[in-house]
Amino acid sequence: MQFVKQVSLIVLGLILSTFFFSCNTGNSKEKKDSMKNSASYLSDLSDKSGFETTVDGKKTDLYILKNKNGAMATFTNYGGRIVSLLVPGKNDSLMNVVCGFKSVEDYQKSTEPYYGATIGRYGNRIAKGKFSLDGKQYSLFLNNGQNTLHGGKKGFQYQVWDAVQPDSNSVVFTRISTDMEEGYPGNLKVKVTYTLNNDNGLEMEYEATTDKNTVVNLTNHAYFNLNGEGSGTILNHEVKIFANSYTPIDSTLIPTGKIEPVANTPFDFRDFHTIGSRINDDNVQLKNGKGYDINLVLDSAKNDSLHLAAKVIGDQSGIEMTIYTDQPGLQFYSGNFMAGKNMFNNGIKDDFRTAFAMETQHYPDSPNEPSFPTTVLKPGEKYHSKSVYVFSVKK
Ligand code: GLA
Repeated sequence: MQFVKQVSLIVLGLILSTFFFSCNTGNSKEKKDSMKNSASYLSDLSDKSGFETTVDGKKTDLYILKNKNGAMATFTNYGGRIVSLLVPGKNDSLMNVVCGFKSVEDYQKSTEPYYGATIGRYGNRIAKGKFSLDGKQYSLFLNNGQNTLHGGKKGFQYQVWDAVQPDSNSVVFTRISTDMEEGYPGNLKVKVTYTLNNDNGLEMEYEATTDKNTVVNLTNHAYFNLNGEGSGTILNHEVKIFANSYTPIDSTLIPTGKIEPVANTPFDFRDFHTIGSRINDDNVQLKNGKGYDINLVLDSAKNDSLHLAAKVIGDQSGIEMTIYTDQPGLQFYSGNFMAGKNMFNNGIKDDFRTAFAMETQHYPDSPNEPSFPTTVLKPGEKYHSKSVYVFSVKK
């Protein structure tokens, strides 16, 4: 009798716990919220197992940077990518503000190739995949309609970089992009140094040299959500961009060659605006970009020392990102092509406009626009550029 009682109690317990468990999983918002910052997810971000593999005969790995405030950034040499960036939020709890995947395989399978990647040899678009240098015309692979985007078919995002980690704050990626790789002339020696400094700033420093005249435009394509990776729309993020003008584009997102004032356009972010407040305005440039996908001409464009480029604030987290760069332009992209086809680190899909990019760089199609700052690099010259993304919490 005693035994029968015990068995029925156990069965009752099982039924009740199954009932409560299914009620909980039914609440997907709560589940998402608890997943996006759960301790297990944050510690999973330093799990190297998905990154220790071989691509094109070269070893890939995950590199972990930490600073003295407990901030952490992870990188993989597959594409020279930033995989995650944990910065202190309110109450000093860490939050991952960069979207990424849990394995090299996920990056290879992704329908969006550029998550967190180092972009080159020429970041952004080159019209019809053609440019001339010293009287000779060069043709590139057309991977974006009739244009070339972010380097071509196998841009820097799909290359395995050599990596060294000189200290716990930085990782250095190097590679030689050989003469005519993806159609660009000259052997280009490239070095990218990512440093997580003790002011919670992520420094990105690019250096390159060539043995023939070529064009170079290097950047990083991190996708940010300052409310935390996978935490829903970025439309309520507040944005300020230190730019009085922008480069209007045609329907294929190639600049028309004009530089126009942002005044009285939805590209005027000289005061804070949410990303969403004007994104559906009746504006041909917004229609061309399917949202924000535009190059802003930074105010200090002619000054090649670090200058303030933009500030973005996560509406829920209060995390503020301040961007400094020595580059003349900033491509602001509001995640318009994100379509929920890939799964982030924390198991949440990359839905429409759940992340944005702010790529510090030269203007798109500069090789074909003589009036834009030059992107030509010659033998004996040194390409050098630096951007810093600093994170703090708005009280
Ligand atoms: C850049 C481009 C966008 C888009 C993204 C990646 O930001 O300007 O049009 O291609 O890269 O999808």
